[in-house]
Order: sequence, then C-alpha cells, then structure tokens
Amino acid sequence: MTKTILITGASTGIGQATAEWFFERGWNVAATMRSPESHPAADRSDSRWLTCRLDVTDPKSIASALQEALSRYGRIDVWVNNAGYGLSGTLESATEQQIQRQFDTNVFGLIRCTQAILPHFRNQKSGTLINVSSMGGRLTFPLYSLYHATKWAVEGLSESLQFEVRPLNIRVKIIEPGPIRTDFYDRSADFCHNRGFTEYNELVDQAVRTYQKAGEHGQPPEVVARVIWKAARDRSWKLRYPAGRDARILLTLRSLLPNRLYQAVVRSQVFGRTRLR
Ligand SMILES: NC(=O)c1ccc[n+]([C@@H]2O[C@H](COP(=O)([O-])OP(=O)(O)OC[C@H]3O[C@@H](n4cnc5c(N)ncnc54)[C@H](OP(=O)(O)O)[C@@H]3O)[C@@H](O)[C@H]2O)c1
Repeated sequence: MTKTILITGASTGIGQATAEWFFERGWNVAATMRSPESHPAADRSDSRWLTCRLDVTDPKSIASALQEALSRYGRIDVWVNNAGYGLSGTLESATEQQIQRQFDTNVFGLIRCTQAILPHFRNQKSGTLINVSSMGGRLTFPLYSLYHATKWAVEGLSESLQFEVRPLNIRVKIIEPGPIRTDFYDRSADFCHNRGFTEYNELVDQAVRTYQKAGEHGQPPEVVARVIWKAARDRSWKLRYPAGRDARILLTLRSLLPNRLYQAVVRSQVFGRTRLR
C-alpha cells in the first residue's frame, strides 16, 4: 500500500526538499504551507501530491489540512512537524510580540499539530511523528537564547511523549540538523538588537558575521530530507537523528566534553580570535 506523509512548512528549505524526496520515492505527499498561492510551482499535477494550506498558529487550518489529506489518501503514516524559524539577538532587546511569535510557531504550533494527528494515529494503531528540532535543541550558541528555548522545549516534549505513545505503536523521532542552506538565515529569520545597548554591539557584530558564514557554508536541505527518510522508515524505537556533518560532530563533542571545555570551544568558534573569546 502507498504510504502517506504530511509535512508542515513545505514551501521552502527542508520541508520542500523532504516533500520532493518522498514524492520521488513513490509516497503520497501532503505538502502543507501557510500560503500555497505564493508557491504555485510547488504544486504537482499528480494524485500522489496534495498542496494544502496549514498555518501552525491557526488551529482551523490544521484541522482542515488533516481532513483534506485524509479524504484524499484515507490515512497518514508519517507527520512531520517542520515549520519553524529562528529569532536571534540580545535577549533584553526582544519584544513581547517577537517572543510570543517565536514560541507560537516553534512550540505551540508543533503541539497543536501533534494533538491534531495523535487521535488518528491512535485509531490507526500506528504512525510516526517526526519533529524537526535542531542541534540547537541540545546545545547552545550566543544570541539564540529564545530560539534555543523553543528547540529545547521540542526535545523535552518529544522525549517525554515517546514514553506515552510507544505502547500505542506510535513512533516519535527528533531530527537535529546542523547549519543547512535554506531561507532560515535570511528571509525567515527574525532579529532583535537595540544598538542603544552599546555594550553588546561588538559581540553582536562578531556573532552575526559568524552565523552568516555558517549559513552560506551550510549543507543542502536534501541532507536532512535523507535523514527524515531514514527516520520515517526505521522500524526501531530510536529517538534522535542528528542531520549533517556539523550536527554529528558538535553533538558528539557536547556529550564527551565537560561543560567548561565545551563552552570554550563554542566561544572560540563564534568569536574567533577576538577579545570576546
Ligand atoms: N536551516 C538550518 O540551518 C536549520 C538548522 C536546524 C534546524 N532547522 C529547522 O528546520 C525547520 C525548517 O527550516 P528551514 O531551514 O527549511 O527554513 P525555511 O526555508 O525558512 O523554512 C521554514 C518553513 O517554515 C514555514 N513556516 C514558518 N512559520 C510558519 C507557520 N506559522 N505555519 C506554517 N509554516 C510556517 C515557512 O513558511 P513560509 O514560506 O510561509 O514562510 C517555511 O516553509 C525549522 O523548524 C528550523 O528551525 C533549520
């Protein structure tokens, strides 16, 4: 029987690459996005491809995308919570609205989607929930405190949830990408820094330069699509899947090095030879 995957945030980047990866390998794909009308090229004239509107901050759109996918394909085998973006900058510069939006998308949005699909997986007596976290869900870098807070939340939620749903034959998988060349670093990014807080300016300028380079040298999103492909078909109960070269190296270092040493490595990576190190 043809398997079905539903992906959130499939308009660009990792979500789009994942949708294409599964489609090319014979799966039914429900590629969901906030504004399908802005991505007419995303649509394939094929019954195995369904584009539908899903904004993770809008519960009605989640329910109707789920309904649309179920009426077309009858079942969903894999649901990928991928939609998300990064807010970076100095914590004290972030507005209430920026903080709310970051959590509403990366955490509450993911929870809304998870609550929507679980009853279906429960009735079906099977299903795989894949949450796209980040290597930044288990380690941290300067200026990303709020983004990290959301991804650490995703990790904690997923790790606890797997105990709860494993007896129902529902798998939970966490994908942890390193730097990937997508819109994450420009179009999708949000930033907060008040230049009036002059004490931070040098640190902010240096870190922003480092992150721009990291984004430019990131790996292509297909690297993550391939890991999602593996996680979706893996019959094991493995929970975490680092994705990409940097994620594998840094997460290994993080688990081996004592905190103080690990933090020195991060400072030298982000601040280079400057006095901030
Ligand atoms: N790129 C990296 O280096 C990296 C590393 C680790 C983790 N990640 C994670 O990977 C995931 C995908 O990011 P990406 O790198 O592929 O970046 P991207 O190209 O910017 O894709 C982000 C996707 O999320 C969608 N999105 C944002 N807010 C949404 C909402 N409220 N409802 C539905 N969709 C929404 C965007 O839709 P629009 O087109 O409508 O904006 C877009 O499709 C994110 O969760 C990100 O945190 C990325």
